[in-house]
Amino acid sequence: MRTGTNTDVAAELLRAGRLVAIPTETVYGLAAKGTDARAVAEIFSAKKRPFFDPLILHFYDQHRIEDYVHSVPEYFYNLYRAFSPGPVTYVLPRTDRVPDLVSSGLPTVGIRFPRHPLTRHLLFSLDFPLAAPSANRFGYISPTLAQHVDKQFGDELAYILDGGPCTLGIESTILDCTGPKVKVLRKGSLSVDRLIAELGYEPEIAQISSSRPSAPGNIDHHYAPHTPMYIGNLSENTRHFPSGTGVLSFGNNARNLKFQREINLSLKGDLTEAAANFFAALHLLDEDPEVKQILCEWFEEEGLGLALNDKIRRGGRISGTSN
Ligand code: TXA
Ligand code: MG
Repeated sequence: MRTGTNTDVAAELLRAGRLVAIPTETVYGLAAKGTDARAVAEIFSAKKRPFFDPLILHFYDQHRIEDYVHSVPEYFYNLYRAFSPGPVTYVLPRTDRVPDLVSSGLPTVGIRFPRHPLTRHLLFSLDFPLAAPSANRFGYISPTLAQHVDKQFGDELAYILDGGPCTLGIESTILDCTGPKVKVLRKGSLSVDRLIAELGYEPEIAQISSSRPSAPGNIDHHYAPHTPMYIGNLSENTRHFPSGTGVLSFGNNARNLKFQREINLSLKGDLTEAAANFFAALHLLDEDPEVKQILCEWFEEEGLGLALNDKIRRGGRISGTSN
């Protein structure tokens, strides 16, 4: 498979209905022409993704969404001005222009305006939006480097547009914009605190049922490494760790402790830095043959810590502590 930075090559392949991985500021996406149901079907088959899990449509800017959504509330435009392009997905009522497959038959569609310059350049040159889920197999760790995509999909993709490491590192925050007030469907790169500052009220955080999730990123077991991941406690009084333990540490929480392998997400204890490093660190531990189990701790329940804990909760097989 070819990897490169040529947006003209990517655009040609997408116009022809092929799959192309694209960089975004959150994670890499697995993109296809969003108006072509056959091309979109290829995404589901490459990802081994169930058809009940709808895709996000990626647009260059708000002027291009008109044919695809309707009943757009006034507050959408305020949020758009504050946060787009950027790590927010807006769920809005959709028109017939959106293939059923994109939205899994729901009357709504998720739309997003990614901020990565290469992908913005690509979207500008296309006269259709790009349907793109994260470029990982269904349920596995999300990709934050072109190499992560390459390892998982090999020759199944026509091209990987390499935009370097994703700067934010966790998925977009998904907002339901179909009602009088905003609801958060998935906690992500835009923290709820920043959202509250813009909205002036505290949005409802949707409680999702895992059997028929409205945002299957919320399925119980998701973002999971193949290696078992435990959520434990790294405090001094925890004395024994099994051999082959790989640790995702943060700040100095693993101080004076020795493990098979330790990856520190942010030595200075910065949640933004930890989010940017999170999935890449999980990939490294998961690929290390010496690491037999992965251990991490909960983050503080504030700011991006909320979204990180959400990923840990879904990736972990056994919770050492409740949260
Ligand atoms: O940051 C991101 O959002 C990345 C990049 C590539 O844009 N994309 C991403 O896509 O995370 P994906 O498919 O891995 O997760 C999208 C989530 C899914 O859980 C899906 O169920 C939800 O968005 N979603 C899509 N359309 C929806 C809709 N109409 N209503 C509710 N949830 C929706
Ligand atoms: Mg995903």
